[in-house]
Amino acid sequence: MVDDENTTDSLAVTRRGALGGGAALLTLSLACEHVQPRQDPVPSPPVGGNGLDLRTTVNGHAVEVAIDTRTSLLDLLRERIGLTGAKKGCDHGQCGACTVHVDGRRVASCLTLAAKVEGREVTTIEGLANGEQLHPMQQAFIDHDALQCGYCTPGQIMAAVACVREGNATSRERIREYMSGNICRCGAYVGIVAAIEDAATKMGRG
Ligand code: FES
Ligand code: FES
Repeated sequence: MVDDENTTDSLAVTRRGALGGGAALLTLSLACEHVQPRQDPVPSPPVGGNGLDLRTTVNGHAVEVAIDTRTSLLDLLRERIGLTGAKKGCDHGQCGACTVHVDGRRVASCLTLAAKVEGREVTTIEGLANGEQLHPMQQAFIDHDALQCGYCTPGQIMAAVACVREGNATSRERIREYMSGNICRCGAYVGIVAAIEDAATKMGRG
């Protein structure tokens, strides 16, 4: 179980070097697939009159947790459930690092209230692979070396999967347009677009 983001990030750097590129972060993400959402890993915050007993599904696991109604979906995932794949980049809906799926549609989890996912299905990067088999988009990011530091990568991959499923991966121009909400400060865009083109054909949407 990955409990400490700092530990995870330092491992990512170390293993990235050992594996010579993009595989490390994705490997870690795959490993996170086995993380069982923690029911109440930290004490519930004082909620005063703003409490809510939330019931939702995250990566196929039923989750029931008491939250402050003002909690964002990103903070629910990272701070309460312990799934740190979705990253907090800007916390203002401007970078895409926090992208996850709700009922199959991509959302910026930093701008989504956790209360809005009551009774819905949330998928994060940790839930994308099928057991030990990477999702075609994860594999394509490795094959095309579509990352450098990897911080944006979970959000890029979740957005990319949605982009393909939406039917918007039909050309490089269209991919760029529909991925424009996901910023990569390392500038790995050439690899990202190539990965999406590649995965789209394998997902039957290219
Ligand atoms: S952290 Fe959500 S869009 Fe930047
Ligand atoms: S790989 Fe570093 S921000 Fe995208």
